[in-house]
Amino acid sequence: MDHFLYRDGALYAEDVPIAEIAAAVGTPFYVYSTATLLRHYRLFDEALDGTDHLICYAMKAASNQAILKTLAQAGAGMDVVSGGEYLRARAAGVPGDRIVFSGVGKTADEIRMALMGGVRQFNVESEPEMEVISAVATELGVTAPITVRVNPDVDARTHAKIATGKSENKFGIPIARASQVYARAASLPGLEVVGIDVHIGSQLTVLEPFEQAYRKVAELTERLRSEGHDIRRLDLGGGLGIPYTRSNEAPPLPLEYGQLIKDTLGHLGCEIEIEPGRLIAGNAGLMVSRVIYVKSGEGRDFLILDGAMNDLIRPAMYEAHHDIVPVLEPAPGTEMQPYDIVGPVCETGDTFAKQRHMPPLAADDLIAFRSAGAYGAVMASEYNTRPLIPEVLVRGDQFAVIRARPTFDEIINRDTIPEWL
Ligand code: LLP
Repeated sequence: MDHFLYRDGALYAEDVPIAEIAAAVGTPFYVYSTATLLRHYRLFDEALDGTDHLICYAMKAASNQAILKTLAQAGAGMDVVSGGEYLRARAAGVPGDRIVFSGVGKTADEIRMALMGGVRQFNVESEPEMEVISAVATELGVTAPITVRVNPDVDARTHAKIATGKSENKFGIPIARASQVYARAASLPGLEVVGIDVHIGSQLTVLEPFEQAYRKVAELTERLRSEGHDIRRLDLGGGLGIPYTRSNEAPPLPLEYGQLIKDTLGHLGCEIEIEPGRLIAGNAGLMVSRVIYVKSGEGRDFLILDGAMNDLIRPAMYEAHHDIVPVLEPAPGTEMQPYDIVGPVCETGDTFAKQRHMPPLAADDLIAFRSAGAYGAVMASEYNTRPLIPEVLVRGDQFAVIRARPTFDEIINRDTIPEWL
């Protein structure tokens, strides 16, 4: 459920007409709903009710500080994967003890930054990384809390580019080697083992892979405890999928996911962390774009938009489907017609949808890409020297620009020309 609904024939974000935002900020832009963000956060919070838990929002999904602050004020922690994300979370007011640091390639500088600024734990992905964390912590005279990310070798049954839990993926240490790696962790100075971490992939639409992974984590917890490790925290990663279309079968709900966590791991008495990103932000955001031209091609009509693959890369990168809706609600009985919906970038890959049925549209009409809140703005680029598009946050009948569109001068002046030219 989200808060982007038609009212009086026009699409709204909560109580604000999308067309009003478009008139104020220009197109294209991203718009997020505070109510949807909070609703999704609370669904997880309620799903883990009765269990000691922290929901560490995977801020890679949508990392604007206004979004982070909205969630942090509701009680969320953050899952960060770079020094930049760490600083951004801190700038948004998230305390260090609510930040978990994930990622396969943390550098010594990033580790130092987090140890000095405060961190809940590092999710360690390899033995070489563990040694660097130990060395940096020792040098600073502090103790680094760690979990080790185990790779449980389960098939997440999702898009290959976002599956992470198979043994051939670069993530984590093989679960079969966990005893050795934990023994090594216990022997290194400056480290305190607090738990286990697992994350098997993103956009999972069934619970079975989670169940397989979490059962393995339960077994491992008992084994590691019997080997003398104080396993008291389990970070279970993110990955619960969202409905990208209204027609297909809906993925499991956070409540069912929470129940699965309780069923598979509840008996261990561990503190539970989860790292959802997409489910919190995905359906809390739209990308709004304007039709520049309607072009008749060979046997097909193209809607050429002012938004492009650089603004929303998911269709080009993962063949992802996004529902696309007109901002003016079609009158009942309007006959739909197929369009190829494309951006102005000079590549055929700059195609959002082929033969998508839409009401008849004309130049200047506004359309909205649904489910664009996660992995939308954060994956945008300035390809073709197209400015990163603004982000807007709505709350009730208010809206605010939370990242302005840069000027062309700002973009162009970032280049520096060597003196020999
Ligand atoms: N934790 C870790 C360690 C992760 O690697 C990820 C996502 C998450 C949590 C959050 O997963 P989520 O709850 O959002 O599924 N750009 C791709 C998705 C990449 C996901 C990367 N890792 C897309 O647009 O589909």
